[in-house]
Amino acid sequence: MKYPEKVYLNGNIVPFEDAKISVFDRGFIFGDGIYEVMVQIEGVFFYKKAHLDRLQEGLNKINITFDTSSLLIDIEKLLGVTKLTGKDCLLYIQITRGVAPRQHSYPLDIVPTVMMYAVPKVLPKINAVNAKVITREDFRWSRCDIKMTSLLGNVMLNEEAVQHQCFETILHRDGFFTEASHCNVFFIKDGIVLTHPANKLILDGITRQVVFELCKSLDIEIQETPVSINDVSEIDEAFLTGTSTQIASIQQIDDHILYKENNIGPVTQKLQEAFLKIKSIN
Ligand code: PDD
Repeated sequence: MKYPEKVYLNGNIVPFEDAKISVFDRGFIFGDGIYEVMVQIEGVFFYKKAHLDRLQEGLNKINITFDTSSLLIDIEKLLGVTKLTGKDCLLYIQITRGVAPRQHSYPLDIVPTVMMYAVPKVLPKINAVNAKVITREDFRWSRCDIKMTSLLGNVMLNEEAVQHQCFETILHRDGFFTEASHCNVFFIKDGIVLTHPANKLILDGITRQVVFELCKSLDIEIQETPVSINDVSEIDEAFLTGTSTQIASIQQIDDHILYKENNIGPVTQKLQEAFLKIKSIN
């Protein structure tokens, strides 16, 4: 992993070494901020409006006053300066509440800190990942719908996957699968796609929403029904979704092997093929 050469910070595009924020920025002190990640494919951002709308909703949920539509011009400038206009790249946006003497409650008249960077990124072939995953208790807080920068729970749970040479950790709360450390998770049983409802216990991923659209257009039944950890051995297929993960087939859940070698189940495969098609038109 390399640092981006330039970053956007509060209206300026500067070499990353020169992008400095205060130690009293509440993003640093409390993780008091919201972020977003999106990808540009052949010059067009994939579901840009949905990502910016989710960013706006996150800011509204925690009372940070900022209009994300003001970012549109700055995103174009950033892509221009970093020579990524028209290219495949990943854009990271982070908005924190801003700088103030440390106090828990929201300070008045505070100016948000806005940071963005773009890095070249070509997404891997859609079926390149056949994920092995481990399962762990979802010990994160109960507002996982907020895409906040304080990701310590996700970081700790993702590290466990890495320690076990796995792609992801899928999480369960009260005996039911919620999502994964940086992806949403879906299961397939008897041709029906099952995933956790988009409530406060998961992030409603943009790719997750795309999967709902695809199921509708392909006439595949999809239900927002949590899957029990006791039913893993009954599952026919499972997959992960996320902005850079796209739709990744799950090969193994703990000791339960869904496929030997790199086979992919028929429903997952159909969704991957349909996803590839919309990727090129969005
Ligand atoms: N992760 N759930 C969690 C906890 C996530 O962090 C993510 C995204 C998703 C999938 O959301 P989307 O389809 O909108 O990318 C679900 C991002 C990419 C990240 O933190 O890098």
